[in-house]
Amino acid sequence: MTVKPFLKWVGGKRQLLADIAPLVPNEFSRYIEPFVGGGAVFFHLSEQITAQQIPSVINDINPELVNCYQMVKTQTDDLISLLKSHKHDKNYYLEIRNLDRKEGGLSALSPLERASRFIYLNRTGFNGMYRVNSKGLNNVPFGRYKNPSIVNEDVLWASAKALIDTQISNHSFEDCLSSAGKGDFVYLDPPYVPLNHTSYFTSYMTNGFTMIDQKSLAALVTEMDKRGVVFVASNAFVPAVKELYRGFRQIEVKAKRAINSHGQKRSAISELLITNR
Ligand SMILES: C[S@@+](CC[C@H](N)C(=O)[O-])C[C@H]1O[C@@H](n2cnc3c(N)ncnc32)[C@H](O)[C@@H]1O
Repeated sequence: MTVKPFLKWVGGKRQLLADIAPLVPNEFSRYIEPFVGGGAVFFHLSEQITAQQIPSVINDINPELVNCYQMVKTQTDDLISLLKSHKHDKNYYLEIRNLDRKEGGLSALSPLERASRFIYLNRTGFNGMYRVNSKGLNNVPFGRYKNPSIVNEDVLWASAKALIDTQISNHSFEDCLSSAGKGDFVYLDPPYVPLNHTSYFTSYMTNGFTMIDQKSLAALVTEMDKRGVVFVASNAFVPAVKELYRGFRQIEVKAKRAINSHGQKRSAISELLITNR
């Protein structure tokens, strides 16, 4: 049974699972996902990974997200209890969100409290968005949900089970990929190259993901291909991406995405899968 991600994640890949699944090898030595985000692809593959006892590595540059995966994996019960203590109320939301502005910031909280805050903000904040300002402070407004599900015990337990033998790391993609070798399968879902200039300001982290990062990622992918790594990458369907991955198989796929900054209007847009399969 496919495990559902426990987070909402902007750019989540649930819609592309049917396109990605046929590109996954039947057998591989290790599974590596350096930009895991909400982990739609990892959780989708978790049944195969667990059944075949395939070692896996998931990684993200966002320390709060990575801490959350670690707590879901190791302290599921306590995390569920803590999540149950949250309430759906605007003032309460702002109080929890603004804990990062208090003395000591987030490091004044325990890893468990940080994970519970992260999931709570994800479930009740605007569109499940994760955004911090230039000082690293969360500035996502209160969401417009009537009755959001803050704690889904079944999903959290299923996630914990999927994570049992998974290594979870908080590096930049270069470090995460340095050990990828022959027979490994890597799925790469970096922040996309922007469709237009204004979307340059949409940043997942204070430092953003620049065109220089896109170029070093494409260079790393080319090196991994030579080492015998099997990969699938997703990115925007734009000439710059097609050019970066020239020589690899490129597949146009469709996904429904929010097309304006308020996220209410969704329309089907083309995205690109790149692979050496
Ligand atoms: C498009 S999202 C991944 C979405 C994910 N596939 C899903 O289905 O939810 C990109 C992720 O890359 C992470 N990221 C950004 N820059 C990074 C870097 N230099 N190294 C590793 N991860 C990075 C972001 O924190 C974000 O979670």
